[in-house]
Amino acid sequence: MKTPPSPSSNPLPERAAVIGAGLMGAGIAVVLAGGVNGIENVSVMSRSEQSISRARARIDGYVADLARHGLLSVEPAIVHSRLRFTTSLPDAVSGVGLVVESVTEDAATKRDLFTQLDDLVPPPAILASNTSALPIAEFAGGMTHRDRVIIAHFLQPAHALPVLEVVRGAETSDATDAAMCAIWTALGRRPLRMRRDEPGFLINRLQHALVREAVRLLADGLATAEDIDAAVTHGLAPRFVTAGPIRQRDVNGLAMHVKVASRLWPELDMGDGARVPIEFLKAIVAAGGLGLENGRGFYDWPDADPAAVRRKLDNELLALVKSQHDAG
Ligand SMILES: NC(=O)c1ccc[n+]([C@@H]2O[C@H](COP(=O)([O-])OP(=O)(O)OC[C@H]3O[C@@H](n4cnc5c(N)ncnc54)[C@H](O)[C@@H]3O)[C@@H](O)[C@H]2O)c1
Repeated sequence: MKTPPSPSSNPLPERAAVIGAGLMGAGIAVVLAGGVNGIENVSVMSRSEQSISRARARIDGYVADLARHGLLSVEPAIVHSRLRFTTSLPDAVSGVGLVVESVTEDAATKRDLFTQLDDLVPPPAILASNTSALPIAEFAGGMTHRDRVIIAHFLQPAHALPVLEVVRGAETSDATDAAMCAIWTALGRRPLRMRRDEPGFLINRLQHALVREAVRLLADGLATAEDIDAAVTHGLAPRFVTAGPIRQRDVNGLAMHVKVASRLWPELDMGDGARVPIEFLKAIVAAGGLGLENGRGFYDWPDADPAAVRRKLDNELLALVKSQHDAG
């Protein structure tokens, strides 16, 4: 998505590996191998041939969608030729300068994997985790070379969204942090740096503040799900495309903002009131409401095919990313 750096300043490793080829791993593999500046040798490791064929199908779909939206700067065949699939961890990480771990969100599983990686992959190779919520110390604490461990947290769908969070732990070195950001930048992504490993990082803290309030409005019966969603998709979201919340407050004027915020923020600081939306949410899940996956959530999804619904939304998002990209 950006002009590649000159060869002399190319920060990309010759080889990289993605460990775990589920929903996120497949998208991350496309980020690593995509674009004129993509990494030439990217191995994708999964535990079974079955999950490898699922990952291949996902990757085929992602690459085709990116190409259709004009967001792939090389032929799809070139991206595919850069990817290699294996069920062997030692094979996947042999000679790599970067590993991106994207296995199941389970501390013991990640800890076991990082312990193996510590032995298999010599420094200064970077070991990045796509964990959503685990502190680095929880899965890297037993390693010898902890300074080259960092979080690289993608948003779903990883192949479509141009930003990711780069989160350093207490023991991550400046060199690892800088090299990690340089790699994503060279791959056309914008790293959002979080200076400390705090729960929720940057995006989930913002996102959950909004979602918590949405669920509270619903739980209190103050607005319908449809109106809450429309307030965001037709009101807040288009506005946030042009200016984020900090810039937008400036644009709107802080004198007015401070008057509104002084009245409203104490209301939103829920303290014990946080109990209301969480109990409401728990009751839906306890009653078997899993959302799109089983057709029952805040909304009913009669006869919906989850994969088809996600693909449709991914494509709407790609069209939006393309228009922002074209606008510079
Ligand atoms: N789904 C999201 O929206 C999202 C967003 C950002 C980050 N994440 C994070 O990304 C990671 C992966 O999530 P996902 O949604 O892709 O899950 P997923 O269940 O789709 O994929 C995880 C994959 O890891 C494999 N796996 C488990 N243990 C393994 C091991 N030891 N070696 C190799 N493969 C192994 C599983 O078989 C599965 O294919 C998690 O840490 C999650 O928190 C998820």
